[in-house]
Amino acid sequence: MANKTFKLNTGQDIPAIGLGTWQSAPGQVKTAVSYALKVGYRLVDGAYCYGNEDEVGEGLKEAFESGVVKREDVFVVSKVWATYNTRVELGLDKSLKSLGLDYVDLFLVHWPLLMNPEGNDDKFPKLPNGERDIIRDYNHVDTWKQMEKLLATGKTKAIGVSNYSKRYLEQLLPHATVIPAVNQIENHPSLPQQEIVDLCKEKGIHIMAYSPLGSTGGPMFEAEPVVKVAEKHSVTPAAVLLSYHIPRGSTVLAKSVTPDRIKENLHSLIDLDDEDMKLLNGYSDNLVKEGKVKRYVYPPFGVQFGFPDKL
Ligand SMILES: NC(=O)c1ccc[n+]([C@@H]2O[C@H](COP(=O)([O-])OP(=O)(O)OC[C@H]3O[C@@H](n4cnc5c(N)ncnc54)[C@H](OP(=O)(O)O)[C@@H]3O)[C@@H](O)[C@H]2O)c1
Repeated sequence: MANKTFKLNTGQDIPAIGLGTWQSAPGQVKTAVSYALKVGYRLVDGAYCYGNEDEVGEGLKEAFESGVVKREDVFVVSKVWATYNTRVELGLDKSLKSLGLDYVDLFLVHWPLLMNPEGNDDKFPKLPNGERDIIRDYNHVDTWKQMEKLLATGKTKAIGVSNYSKRYLEQLLPHATVIPAVNQIENHPSLPQQEIVDLCKEKGIHIMAYSPLGSTGGPMFEAEPVVKVAEKHSVTPAAVLLSYHIPRGSTVLAKSVTPDRIKENLHSLIDLDDEDMKLLNGYSDNLVKEGKVKRYVYPPFGVQFGFPDKL
């Protein structure tokens, strides 16, 4: 299962599991990346906004130079940050420079909004009153039009989006010449986002599931059906939460800077059976019905992105 891949609409193979690098501290992330590649990961997810792409790049370089893996065998993901959404090629160039690469395998629009490119901070510009400096009349479709042009540069093999709700996808798709290869969204049994997953499946857009453990500290480990399925298979709750995405046809991203966990996560994927998925899906359905889904990652942009739990 550690070697399982899915096919993107570009024809590329994408691994079913990848290493996340958000909040992976400088001083730790180089080792995490090079260790991950050594133990068999072939997908590394990063972003300009994470502020650690230089170290991610050092980790990649270490693995390439030690002969553990070749550049062409690793699927590297980066994302354009919201202050660069009118300057996506510049955003990509900055990421490539930090990563020490001449291309990424997938470049995503991190969030569909524009923060002031000329504001008082490169990543999180603020207005004098302390609110985030957001250009509110900007149309996210314009960012996608710029993303489409990147393919001809050879600096990315594929383009996609992240944090796109069904509503935002429906605004984007009629104007898209290139269908996004991926939509990277928060996804776990407490936030199934089935309406997005179903639309993406219908349109040939691959889902990359982020924060599968509930993000920092893994709050999803406690969820009752997760514990139940883990006990049934004598595996950890982390194994269940990661494996849950495979029958859904999605790639899952797990962040860790702890060597034992990095290794354990990759090798923890198991086949969940219909009964397991029924239990997990039943739990999700109830949360949706009761309006109790749990979104762990939602930066306070003050923008309605069209997620039903955040209207
Ligand atoms: N597109 C977006 O907007 C977006 C947003 C969020 C995340 N992401 C991507 O998705 C990745 C994963 O999401 P995430 O970082 O939010 O959270 P996550 O992977 O759900 O959870 C990470 C947390 O779980 C811990 N952990 C990892 N494996 C474990 C295990 N086997 N047992 C116990 N604890 C474990 C980690 O601790 P240690 O590191 O201390 O081991 C860390 O505290 C990110 O790193 C990023 O690449 C993308």
